[in-house]
Amino acid sequence: MTEPPWSEPISFPRALDQAARLTDEALERLLIAPPGLEARVYEAMRYSALAPGKRLRPFLVLAGAGLFGVARRCALQVAAAIEMVHTYSLIHDDLPAMDNSELRRGRPTCHRQFDEATAILAGDGLLTTAFGLLADPDTHGDPAVRCELVSELATAAGAAGMVGGQMIDLIAERQSLDIGAITRLQRMKTGALIAFSCEAGAILAKAPGEARVALRGYAHDLGLAFQIADDLLDVEGSADQTGKPVGADAAAGKATFVSILGVERARAQADLLIRQAVAHLDLFEQRAELLREAARFVITRRT
Ligand code: IPE
Ligand code: IPE
Ligand code: MG
Ligand code: MG
Ligand code: MG
Repeated sequence: MTEPPWSEPISFPRALDQAARLTDEALERLLIAPPGLEARVYEAMRYSALAPGKRLRPFLVLAGAGLFGVARRCALQVAAAIEMVHTYSLIHDDLPAMDNSELRRGRPTCHRQFDEATAILAGDGLLTTAFGLLADPDTHGDPAVRCELVSELATAAGAAGMVGGQMIDLIAERQSLDIGAITRLQRMKTGALIAFSCEAGAILAKAPGEARVALRGYAHDLGLAFQIADDLLDVEGSADQTGKPVGADAAAGKATFVSILGVERARAQADLLIRQAVAHLDLFEQRAELLREAARFVITRRT
């Protein structure tokens, strides 16, 4: 069976499936609870990280790594790290102080299943474990590459990226923002981690600047389209399919692409972004087919 990074043609649904399976195996192995009383925080970390997410970010890491022939073992370490950071962001996003959500990935949110303090710690645990993983010699033999991964993820996940975007997102519940400000917020809260996922393979491969620039361009448009699709699902989706409550943004009075532009124009914007994203991949010719299909999936998904 073909295993990612994929060396021969494979359909996108199969590739996403394989990425999910391999990521789950890695998370299972990396998050083993010790025997002490601290086992409870591991339990909460495992509860949220091993819940059925789409694993799109790990897929992007593996598909990006596949463009450069990076060893699967190395790419998987980064894939698991990014999924840990993403899961941490979801656990904290769902807390009463933030979106106050009860359902995530089809299950009670971490703070509902455990308690708020444990959910905060589970998020902290996943975030710090992820950076330890990137610094692990198993991730790459060259310390400079490991250092670059750590530094890039820190920028993407921190106050200049995801955390900063989440800050502005909360402000957007109380203050009206124009489309430029919403675009910036979406690129920070969602786009930054997606961009890191797309570029990680190039970092692992020490790929030339031209390839990095192309992937960055792809990711820039993909990340924004992904969040517009998420906002559309909040209006048009169902909790059964998305595994999380719908209508939450409108109930919170949150400004999104959909609240400002309306459903039709928001969808048109997402379509345009995906066409732009795909155009950045020409350099890779047929080798980027999975990334092209991933882009189409991002705006047609129902989950
Ligand atoms: C949800 O991300 C949070 C956003 C950044 C919009 P996903 O839609 O990737 O969630 P999972 O990982 O599949 O649960
Ligand atoms: C959260 O955005 C993005 C994160 C950084 C976690 P949302 O609040 O829209 O994500 P969902 O809809 O709860 O998954
Ligand atoms: Mg939120
Ligand atoms: Mg939320
Ligand atoms: Mg949302």
